[in-house]
Amino acid sequence: MTCCVGESVGFEFSILGLELSDREEELEGLIAGKLKVNNVAELFFSKLQELGLTGFQKRLGAGAVGVVVQLEGVERFENIPLALKFFEFSESHRFSASDPRGDLIALSFSNAHHLGQTKGVFTFDGEKVHLFETYDPQKQDGHIVIATLSKAVCGTTLYGLAKSVSMTPGQVKTIGRQIAEAILSIHKEGYAHKDIHAENILVESRSGGVSIEMIDFGLAGKLNDKRIGTDWRKFGYILGELGGDKLMADPWFFDLLYSEGRGLLNGKAPYAEREVLDHPFFKGY
Ligand SMILES: Nc1ncnc2c1ncn2[C@@H]1O[C@H](COP(=O)(O)OP(=O)(O)OP(=O)(O)O)[C@@H](O)[C@H]1O
Ligand SMILES: [Mg+2]
Repeated sequence: MTCCVGESVGFEFSILGLELSDREEELEGLIAGKLKVNNVAELFFSKLQELGLTGFQKRLGAGAVGVVVQLEGVERFENIPLALKFFEFSESHRFSASDPRGDLIALSFSNAHHLGQTKGVFTFDGEKVHLFETYDPQKQDGHIVIATLSKAVCGTTLYGLAKSVSMTPGQVKTIGRQIAEAILSIHKEGYAHKDIHAENILVESRSGGVSIEMIDFGLAGKLNDKRIGTDWRKFGYILGELGGDKLMADPWFFDLLYSEGRGLLNGKAPYAEREVLDHPFFKGY
């Protein structure tokens, strides 16, 4: 993934008064190919047209579940470049108000420190495609989530960054601390992320350094003790990968990850929540 500035829109053609640029056509094809259920794909594309959200600029990525494309900003969403993620139309994406999980819950976040900003979620109610910009579980109950709209992050995934540069211990601490803050943020919202890995963390360069955003709430679900433990263990894996050999001699790195008592990866009672953020390993970062 590179910068968010898109390429220019291709030529337009006109059939029976209907104008569809070649970029829009490409987007329509991508949606049909991914959603697989034709009438839903058509309704979804019409909804995007109605909202002016067909300014396809480029592909941002694809994961196990979704295809993510960058769209030109529109006034309704502060004119910022947007990331549209859509996935196969599936019963497994049906939202239930009695057991809220998945992408819709991101609309309920109030203090989303280091969490990707979800601007909207598209659902299908069996008849129509809806765009929700706020969380309203009673109205959304039973709908199948088909796509999400969020701010396009101009940067790279943590996976891409770690592959391309060798981070200094200071950078590992800065990024590690921000990931810990993101986990604490989502837990404060009452949910566990449940899919923490380096491709679900985006890193942006800012004038004052780097800033991370945790994305992809597709597997998120209500918080409980087991899930708190799993999120922090996955955090431990990421930190272990980033720190590698170069931090092994740092006693605080070792304590945080591997100490027999509290280590995130093999401790009997691993650190969790605020204890991670307050751990001396991150002091000063
Ligand atoms: N807001 C965004 N800004 C920029 N790039 C993004 C954004 N959202 C997603 N991407 C890119 O698209 C990729 C896939 O996105 P995401 O993780 O949300 O989809 P997924 O299919 O659910 O993946 P997974 O395999 O983790 O389930 C990301 O790893 C990232 O490269
Ligand atoms: Mg992902």
